[in-house]
Amino acid sequence: MSFRLQPAPPARPNRCQLFGPGSNTKLPPKMAASDADVINLDLEDSVAPSDKDNARAQVIAAINDIDWGTKTLSVRINGLDTPYWYRDVVDVLEQAGDRLDQIMIPKVGCGADIYAVDALVTAIETAKKRTKPIAFEVIIESAAGIAHVEEIAAASPRMAAMSLGAADFAASMGMQTTGIGGTQDNYYMLHGDMRHYSDPWHWAQTAIVAACRTHGVLPVDGPFGDFSDDEGYRAQARRSATLGMVGKWAIHPKQIALANEVFTPSDAAVSEAREILAAMETAKANGEGATVYKGRLVDIASIKQAEVIVQQYEMITG
Ligand code: COA
Ligand code: MG
Repeated sequence: MSFRLQPAPPARPNRCQLFGPGSNTKLPPKMAASDADVINLDLEDSVAPSDKDNARAQVIAAINDIDWGTKTLSVRINGLDTPYWYRDVVDVLEQAGDRLDQIMIPKVGCGADIYAVDALVTAIETAKKRTKPIAFEVIIESAAGIAHVEEIAAASPRMAAMSLGAADFAASMGMQTTGIGGTQDNYYMLHGDMRHYSDPWHWAQTAIVAACRTHGVLPVDGPFGDFSDDEGYRAQARRSATLGMVGKWAIHPKQIALANEVFTPSDAAVSEAREILAAMETAKANGEGATVYKGRLVDIASIKQAEVIVQQYEMITG
């Protein structure tokens, strides 16, 4: 056991991150009125190269003009391999007001990528006397990103959240799929004649969760492209929640309720967690470190597991 305590991630609901292309002026009011916890106004891949300047101006206007309530408000900038990203950072930070909470850096490959953006952001904040430090969220969506995932999570005190971006990740890894997340037809084990489908995203997700939990960053599952497949989305989200992720992206409004449903601990899970805590209180009063709850062992580790569920629920329901 390390003597270093695991740092807590930001205490904010992050069940659903709703994306919209920054160039689409109709969407921001609808996004603000939605039930998503986090809003991601996109300047990157949902905006055509010819429309980057226009989208940047629209996003700045949307940040300044719309009442975003208590949502976490984020802008996805372009990648560091493009000619657009520095202008995204400079214009958005100089011209958008303090309502902006966070910027999302896509296609991060190493800790130095974060350092470079941090240097620019810090200079602008100082020059413009911005009072609220901008937080960072990143997308792990390349072979380099997953190879350096821990150094990326540790790269700046601004780091607040990290998502897996399945589509770019699959492309960078040379994976033979055009699907964005979810079950892959060719990824199965054979047992006799039976095919057992495995989860090709599992290892990347667990690497992200471990890096995030080590450094106090929120781990988030990225997009699920087929927005007509509610059950596929639920299944992917449930796997992510089971692995320790706190939320998932929505690329269409119909995915918001699905994410909120999966990443809000259910009443049954919360009651069971509270019963386990009560059972352990009784055990402690009797001088015992372990006891039996519904026929199964619970011990001091069970307190921590139950507390994860109760604390998540209380933070979300306020
Ligand atoms: N946020 C808020 N509202 C949205 C929305 C979004 N991302 N996407 C669609 N809507 C609205 C539509 O405006 C429409 O509203 P209306 O009923 O008032 O007319 C309603 O939801 C239904 O939309 P629908 O017709 O089913 O979809 P569409 O064809 O207008 O748009 C997409 C489909 C996928 C192009 C659109 O959802 C989108 O741009 N998604 C985000 C893409 C993105 O940001 N990608 C980058 C991250 S991977
Ligand atoms: Mg991407």
